[in-house]
Amino acid sequence: MTRHFLRDDDLSPHEQTEILDLAVQIRADRWGRKPLDGPQTVAVIFDKSSTRTRVSFAVGIADLGGSPLIISTANSQLGGKETPSDTARVLERMVSAIVWRTYAQSGLEEMAAGTTVPVINALSDDFHPCQLLADLLTIRDAFGTLAGLTVAFLGDGASNMAQSYLLAGATAAMNVRVASPVEFAPHETVVGDADAIATSTGGSVTLFTDPFEAVAGADVVVTDTWVSMGKEEEKAHRIAAMGGYKVTQELMDTAKPGAIFLHCLPADRGYEVDPEVIDGPQSVIWNEAENRLHAQKALLTWLLAKNAA
Ligand code: CP
Ligand code: NVA
Repeated sequence: MTRHFLRDDDLSPHEQTEILDLAVQIRADRWGRKPLDGPQTVAVIFDKSSTRTRVSFAVGIADLGGSPLIISTANSQLGGKETPSDTARVLERMVSAIVWRTYAQSGLEEMAAGTTVPVINALSDDFHPCQLLADLLTIRDAFGTLAGLTVAFLGDGASNMAQSYLLAGATAAMNVRVASPVEFAPHETVVGDADAIATSTGGSVTLFTDPFEAVAGADVVVTDTWVSMGKEEEKAHRIAAMGGYKVTQELMDTAKPGAIFLHCLPADRGYEVDPEVIDGPQSVIWNEAENRLHAQKALLTWLLAKNAA
């Protein structure tokens, strides 16, 4: 069975740690590993805009000795005339892995079911698991561990970032808190899945509506845009509904001394976070962005090795 990476909980706790450890080694020796030498090609497909994901996969694949093939859906048959499954069956004859940023999680599942090469979720409406590998690496860099830390995510609880924090954080045995308006709470099934993982790892999952309760004593504070890609028509309503969840310095001051702030970027300064926080001393956003490169190189190396075994 081909291993894919469609959701954060596609990795066991042990596997998540293996990839983070590998990312640290790869970061220390940027050109030391060439599992894609040959060169092998990796298709990286975008239905939505991207800066970090596009560049980090392109650079990472090249660092590993491979050739990145960046495809914009607008200029391909996928999404128009051709199904994810037919696209996958064609691509697997030519590439070593498929990375796809799309809307519906079900499209990724269809693509993965139809191919023998690994499929990687580069962001869907529901999850952003590659970002979470980078975030966990960044948090581990700061604290030396993940298990037992408390992370508070504020804002759009039904977003890909919040839901990936629930799954990946629970896998890492963290205490994951999500504070959002009730109408933007994480999906029940994701909360249930995260809760089951947390029960087995020793982590926990708690939902809040009060941002101050969620941040009290937290080690890590995270937010993301209130208007994710595809939700632009709801912008005015979302800004009104989530206004009370902005990460301000006053809120950060209620977290643990030494707490850090993360944001996957791009950010809307003044909406979900004040400039003094995101551009202040507790913010680790630039390390977080760089870690996309190292974490994804580790993920590709690990997945290709698993599938070759
Ligand atoms: N964080 C992130 O995925 O950024 P991009 O949309 O620029 O890829
Ligand atoms: N939640 C955001 C993440 C962007 C990287 C979005 O989906 O637009």
